[in-house]
Amino acid sequence: MSGYAVRAEGLEKRYGEKRALDGFDLAVREGTVHGLLGPNGAGKTTAVRILSTLIRLDGGQAQVAGLDVARQPREVRARIGLTGQYAAVDEVLTGRQNLEMFGRLFHLGGRRARLRAGELLEQFDLVDAADKGVGKYSGGMRRRLDLAASMILTPSVLFLDEPTTGLDPRGRGEVWESVRALVTGGTTVLLTTQYLEEADKLASHITVIDQGRAIADDTPDGLKNTVGGDRIEVVLAERADIPRAVKVVAKVSDAEPETDETELKVHAPVTDRVSALTEVARTLQDEGVQVEDIGLRRPSLDDVFMRLTGHRTDVAQNTEDPQNPKASKDSKDSKKGAAA
Ligand SMILES: Nc1ncnc2c1ncn2[C@@H]1O[C@H](COP(=O)(O)OP(=O)(O)O)[C@@H](O)[C@H]1O
Ligand SMILES: [Mg+2]
Repeated sequence: MSGYAVRAEGLEKRYGEKRALDGFDLAVREGTVHGLLGPNGAGKTTAVRILSTLIRLDGGQAQVAGLDVARQPREVRARIGLTGQYAAVDEVLTGRQNLEMFGRLFHLGGRRARLRAGELLEQFDLVDAADKGVGKYSGGMRRRLDLAASMILTPSVLFLDEPTTGLDPRGRGEVWESVRALVTGGTTVLLTTQYLEEADKLASHITVIDQGRAIADDTPDGLKNTVGGDRIEVVLAERADIPRAVKVVAKVSDAEPETDETELKVHAPVTDRVSALTEVARTLQDEGVQVEDIGLRRPSLDDVFMRLTGHRTDVAQNTEDPQNPKASKDSKDSKKGAAA
């Protein structure tokens, strides 16, 4: 084996004048979660559809599990799972009944379908809800049931197209847990997302896609380093305290702190986030400097995009995807109030 579960080179897909994929490259290592990160309309779903053989490519080539998607689509299909493919989980049936139904759909036979359903309910932490109607499931539970359904035949490569879009933070966390468990079990996961945080939490490697092309390919840390990593931000109550705050912040940063005179803000990049935050908070308090807010700010998807492309994510979002009508911007993940 090549060590790669997915390899794509120069993928092209056109819809009329629109180039949904425009020379897209991707390499996904076996047994990893690989994030495909990009705004709405970037080409994520198109890439997943090509790799899962649902649509044909116009140019380039791709292998999944060592098989050519254009020449061996049936063999590819036998080795992959795709969420959303069976979005038709039945509301009236229970979770268990749904999974047994899918099992029989895949010709497992009654007994094996029942066994497999039981295993998957355990694996996706749905045992307690197994015999409840799916209509009563939370968003996170439904998404986990979708994942379970796509795992009936234990695929070696699983495609998850925005598996947490529309979920609340709790449901999102539940799905993340399930995805982690899958990889422990040996499955390779290609996960598309608009959320840097999600790719950061789950993926060991991330490809950033914009306008049908891979514009960056790196580890989560590497990606964040391209926008300068984490920053500490202090908002002061008094303008007169800015010079003192600059001195304090400078001690925990390798770079010169920047100031924002109108917002009374002092900020600088830090590497050791937690100790920097603790030290700055303590020193400012000791010196009697009044602080309105203090926190760590991680680069957002917007920051990464701004740096990589020179445009904000919402520019690309103007090209609407009917599947994902909700444009989403990553919120700033800052830990506030640590100084209190
Ligand atoms: N069936 C289609 N017909 C016409 N245009 C399409 C079709 N599918 C996707 N597109 C266009 O291709 C681009 C990429 O879409 P898509 O792969 O769905 O992006 P993403 O999943 O990253 O939001 C978008 O501009 C979209 O409008
Ligand atoms: Mg999409």
